[in-house]
Amino acid sequence: MEIKRVANAAERVRTDLVAVPLAAGMPTSRELAELDAATGGKLLREIRKRSADPSKQGVVSVYQTHGEMRADLIAVIGVGRGESGSDLAPDVWRRFAGQALDAARGARAKTLALSIGSARSGAAAAAALGAVVEGALLAAYQIDGFKTARGGFRVERCVVAGAPSSRDAQRAVERAQALAVATCFARDLINGPAESITPDYLGRTAKRLARGRGLSVHVYGPDELRRLKMGAILAVGRGSRNEPRLIEIVYRPQQRRASAGPVALVGKGITFDSGGLSLKPPGSMEIQKRDMAGGAAVLGAMQAIAALRPPIEVRGYVASAENMPDGRAYRPGDVLRTFTGKTVEVLNTDAEGRLVLADALGYAAAGGIGRRVKPRWIVDLATLTGAVTTALGRSIAGVMGSDPELVRRLIEIGRETGEPMWELPLVDEYLAGLDSPIADLKNTGDGTAGTIFGGLFLREFVGGLPWAHLDIAAVAFADKSRPYVPRGAVGWGVRTLVELVERAARD
Ligand code: BES
Ligand code: MN
Ligand code: ZN
Repeated sequence: MEIKRVANAAERVRTDLVAVPLAAGMPTSRELAELDAATGGKLLREIRKRSADPSKQGVVSVYQTHGEMRADLIAVIGVGRGESGSDLAPDVWRRFAGQALDAARGARAKTLALSIGSARSGAAAAAALGAVVEGALLAAYQIDGFKTARGGFRVERCVVAGAPSSRDAQRAVERAQALAVATCFARDLINGPAESITPDYLGRTAKRLARGRGLSVHVYGPDELRRLKMGAILAVGRGSRNEPRLIEIVYRPQQRRASAGPVALVGKGITFDSGGLSLKPPGSMEIQKRDMAGGAAVLGAMQAIAALRPPIEVRGYVASAENMPDGRAYRPGDVLRTFTGKTVEVLNTDAEGRLVLADALGYAAAGGIGRRVKPRWIVDLATLTGAVTTALGRSIAGVMGSDPELVRRLIEIGRETGEPMWELPLVDEYLAGLDSPIADLKNTGDGTAGTIFGGLFLREFVGGLPWAHLDIAAVAFADKSRPYVPRGAVGWGVRTLVELVERAARD
């Protein structure tokens, strides 16, 4: 879908459908009033007649203009309560754009105009513009799939009407486009079948991503992993013909803010998780091609960072393997030596995510390639536990960490990006539950607090550095469509990570 902005008000745009927000608790917006005038007052009468409830979110009414103006249809979309005067929160604008796109698809409208005239002040107008562009592009995503029949109806062109044209507005649009493209790139990787999205494929994708964008990349294959003594990634990958990889991508800014230390982003990249010899039941395996969603988010974030060029060094790591049962597969009872030297007794080969992350986090904490400057912050993302779904459901990710400030920032940013998270405590008393009679620790807890045990295990490998862990097992995939999130991979985390990095660069 093509998207552009115009300063014209929506009623002057030639389009099939105009979408306009209706917020409760604020006076009728100028945009709505103007559209209403163009219809000779019939639009608002129609809305009142239906006693439309604008505090509900979504399409309130679709009005047929019968030639009263250039557009054939006006979709009035409830956006809830205005937060402060006429400025709506960014995620309200994203959802508005997503619902507008749904309305356009439903009405078979090829062209769509989004009216954002209700946000008027400079900074707020640019922010609304950016959020609307982001939401529309994310909503327009379609799985690049294998259906032989023609895909669904596509909206071809989208115009944001009443848009500001300041420098800020231009930057907001460019940023939104970079974020949407990067999120959709991550979605494609997650939606892709494990047969094609292998560790080697992720490695080659990272190289392709780096080329021409000024990123350096290094992909460690089995030989180098052995040289680095990464016994955990190697063990997890040993049961598959698709050999494991550790991907390292580094973004170095032209000018670095002296105080802004490197940020390390680490993603779990299990391209398929059968459980290994601790085999999963068939139903649980259906969805395990998504087990590299954390890694995909890191690759997506690196792509956007390369485009936006913040003045801070960022290092991305993806620990990638396929977890399969086989004659060579690692077994329950095996003891692994990780990169940091710590040994782990494997009790369950299905707790493989924390194993590959142990090596990757240890390597990131040591400073990665060259091992010179340690990162100021480490953030990992992983589809780590089924238990996080029990704890928090499918809308909220679990966050844990060793640095309260980092965790606080992530939660605050997630609220704005529409990627909410909730902190779970790393209960020190539970650490004893990871004691092993034979090794430094074992890879499973005692069956309680599964998500917390995952976090406690990972903490052992970050060398005391400020670190946060996001368990995204429940949020990485949407079983049904939401506004601006079509069913399938969400691309969860890309936008939050980029925002975290940009804010760190401003400290
Ligand atoms: N990849 C799974 C977690 C998962 C479950 C992701 C459902 C997405 C949907 C992970 O590797 C796993 O198997 N975790 C185990 C841990 C247990 C063996 C300690 C789990 O959650 O059961
Ligand atoms: Mn598993
Ligand atoms: Zn897994």
